[in-house]
Amino acid sequence: MVAEGIAPSAISAFESTFKSLVSGATGIIPESTISPVPELVHTDSLSIEPDSELLASTVVLKLNGGLGTGMGLDKAKSLLKVKNDETFLDLTAKQVMCMRKEFGQNVKFMLMNSFSTSDDTLEFFRTKYPNLAAEEGLEMMQNKVPKIDAKTFEPATCETDPSNEWCPPGHGDLYAALIGSGRLAALLKGGFKYMFVSNSDNLGATLDLKILTHFATTDASFMMECCERTENDKKGGHLAIRNEDKHLILRESAMCADEDEKDFQDITKHKFFNTNNLWIRLDKLQEIVDKCGGFIPLPMIKNNKTVDPKDDSSQKVVQLETAMGAAIECFEGASAVIVPRTRFAPVKKCNDLLLLRSDAYIITEDFRPVLNPACGGKAPVISLDSKKFKMVQALEEATSEGVPSLVGCERLTVKGKIRMGRSTRFIGAVSITNTSDEAKYVSGKIEDAELDVSNDVGL
Ligand code: UTP
Repeated sequence: MVAEGIAPSAISAFESTFKSLVSGATGIIPESTISPVPELVHTDSLSIEPDSELLASTVVLKLNGGLGTGMGLDKAKSLLKVKNDETFLDLTAKQVMCMRKEFGQNVKFMLMNSFSTSDDTLEFFRTKYPNLAAEEGLEMMQNKVPKIDAKTFEPATCETDPSNEWCPPGHGDLYAALIGSGRLAALLKGGFKYMFVSNSDNLGATLDLKILTHFATTDASFMMECCERTENDKKGGHLAIRNEDKHLILRESAMCADEDEKDFQDITKHKFFNTNNLWIRLDKLQEIVDKCGGFIPLPMIKNNKTVDPKDDSSQKVVQLETAMGAAIECFEGASAVIVPRTRFAPVKKCNDLLLLRSDAYIITEDFRPVLNPACGGKAPVISLDSKKFKMVQALEEATSEGVPSLVGCERLTVKGKIRMGRSTRFIGAVSITNTSDEAKYVSGKIEDAELDVSNDVGL
């Protein structure tokens, strides 16, 4: 394995997570060491005058380095089509252009790409948005880290494809990438003070001038956009206050001991979760980096995988990652706000993608997908067979003749393999079961029905 010009900030960050791995650190955060976060300000209730002058010192960055492995992808998820022929990146590019027009300013826009997403993403921008592609510093490349043999902790090897020996180190790499690429220094020199970061698969995360103004006027060093946890979110992480230094921290499920599970899942106690929409004061970031010796130490996330993602029998490896939001614990004077769910619309599963592609979502004039008013304020609950529809490819095949109508649907549950077309309309609560191995075609209007299509003629 050959290390190619990796920046000291990235090496230090990797060393820090690697040390956690070999020391056997569990990263467990006991309930007794934290306190719940008291009520937070809701951005809907902010009564401040938006200050558009702040935009000149603001940079918007989209995280675009992940591979969408959860949906069976090994390339940028943001190049998937979301609405008709428009991809996540089309809508993001249009949001940026729209925002610039609205505010009459060229708000700086950046992407953090990884070695797996860079080529396709840049080619896409060059072809479709040449003006954005020509802007200086559109891309910031994130680092790569070696995959590690799960038993020996030696670097993993993959003779058939050595590129498999490396992986992106999670979005926590944002900080090491900003430092190591010299971009943090350049942005500060260029007079930039505020950075708004969000996931490229979250099209609800647009630059909101009121939230920016709140961030600036409260003088917070770091601000996390949170949403209130519901029953559906109780297994995911939450925000808390660390008793020792009163810093805000994130506790993810892997950091919770079995005996604290009840408290962890108590959504009336731990009420808020991180949307990954973050506001960062770049000058404060530089201060912390200087204090910590050139990098930001973040909690380790350990992912067990195989060196070749397409070969389950290949060498068992550990991929070390960190999460960007975890940096909240390093910032003295960090804060959090509650935002409406419309600012948190990530696509993590085929369920989310099908919904977004359907008529249950419409695109606003400023290129945000929002629930179709005809849905009456409630998004249909989609539950496609988690095995048959794990991969995006399966959804593409199932909808190759068009996306079904979901605007009148309350709940769609699919067990087994089905295919649908543009004329398929699901109304009310529909459940479809196919126990056969063959895909079955469902068409026309299907209203409040529990269908077993196992014996239908296959297509
Ligand atoms: P996630 O890791 O939460 O989601 O990344 P994902 O893209 O669905 O990836 P899988 O399924 O876990 O593989 C959230 C955001 O962070 C970016 C992703 O591109 C996404 O926009 N990201 C993730 C990076 O930029 N770099 C990384 O190393 C990891």
